[in-house]
Amino acid sequence: MIEKIGIDKIGFYTPEFYLDLTELAHERDVDPNKFKIGIGQDEQAVVPLDQDVVTMAANAAVKILSADDLAEIDEIIFATESGIDQSKAGALYVQRLLGINPRARALEVKEACYGATAALQTAVDHLIAHADSQKVLVLGSDVARYGVATAGEVTQGAGAVAMLVTRQPRILALERTSAYFSEDIMDFWRPNYSDTAFAKGKYSTEQYLRFLDLVWHDYQAKTSAELADFAAVLFHIPYTKLGLKGLRQISADSNTELQESLLAQFTKATVFNRRVGNIYTGSLYLSLLSLLQNSDLPANARLGLFSYGSGAVGEFFTGTLQPRYQDVSQQVNVAEMLDQRQKLSVSEYETFFNQALPTDGSEMVITPISKNATFYLQGMTDHQRLYK
Ligand code: HMG
Repeated sequence: MIEKIGIDKIGFYTPEFYLDLTELAHERDVDPNKFKIGIGQDEQAVVPLDQDVVTMAANAAVKILSADDLAEIDEIIFATESGIDQSKAGALYVQRLLGINPRARALEVKEACYGATAALQTAVDHLIAHADSQKVLVLGSDVARYGVATAGEVTQGAGAVAMLVTRQPRILALERTSAYFSEDIMDFWRPNYSDTAFAKGKYSTEQYLRFLDLVWHDYQAKTSAELADFAAVLFHIPYTKLGLKGLRQISADSNTELQESLLAQFTKATVFNRRVGNIYTGSLYLSLLSLLQNSDLPANARLGLFSYGSGAVGEFFTGTLQPRYQDVSQQVNVAEMLDQRQKLSVSEYETFFNQALPTDGSEMVITPISKNATFYLQGMTDHQRLYK
């Protein structure tokens, strides 16, 4: 019998500030229904200067890890496309901040929003290859930035997901067969000199749907699976409307009952994404958390997951919910975290957006802004970030 490996714990962190997209629509002279219905987003996380991808990842992980986990983690894989350093892995900062034992591998991976899926699959491979290894920590942390008053502005966001991958997982056991597809395309990218992303908006959405079509059909050809085998299908969610288009695409030939039940689960799986925005590599896993905390699917329900990272890589993979998933996935109360955030006006958001750390080695001391975070950025000196 194949040993079960998958997600045993899942945590999340998003900054304490948000922007109301109806207010943004009024300010940008756009019909609010374009943002709420056409894009399918209600609110957007805004990052203060004292949070970055390292602190967000540490804040997501600290909520779920026990002292035993810290001692037993054998590998830390940090997935991001908004990393703070070209050389050093974000995983090393997180290792120190959390007190994870030093006999662990620590590394960073990148492929746009696909990064956390690459990390998750690598974690599974690590556990298969190393019989003495018990736990791998997967982190997906990003800040999605397109720029003030750009077409992509409504699809910004920020946050981090932390997942503990183990044998005999208590949340989601991952199945071994998956279908993946990679191709060098320019739909979305961020050159080293830019702190905002470039996107060919409409083209990127077409590529997302093309990659979905390719990997879903490859998966079906490999496994003979049918859509009816899945209780829910989860998507990378750059904004909820695109996930909805993906669901409509793969369920177009299904009967009305199946279409309606998948749509009902999709709605539950995007409750949090509607309020956080795109968190790039963590977005699919925020959708998983949204499903886990808002749905009451039975144990053993099978999930399909579509991961997409621009550039581009797509993967369709699957898993089954485990008997204790409902208790174990409540370690972080995401709805409460979102309700406790502070709303910013559009001009306050623009001020936050334009704040930047020094790039010339000069010193900066940041007065703490995040009141509920365990970890935050204290400042910079000598080209180094100082964390607390
Ligand atoms: P846009 O040009 O502002 O939007 O860009 P639009 O004019 O295409 O309108 C969007 C939708 O709103 C349309 O619906 C309109 O009809 C509708 P659709 O045709 O799509 O069904 N609409 C309205 N609906 C109701 N009431 C109204 C109304 N007015 C219009 N009054 C775009 C939108 C998403 C392209 C832009 O925000 C953008 O460029 N975002 C960034 C790129 C992006 O998110 N791409 C997604 C695919 S790529 C991906 O997922 C990877 C990524 O996460 C990065 C990574 O991998 O690292 C981005």
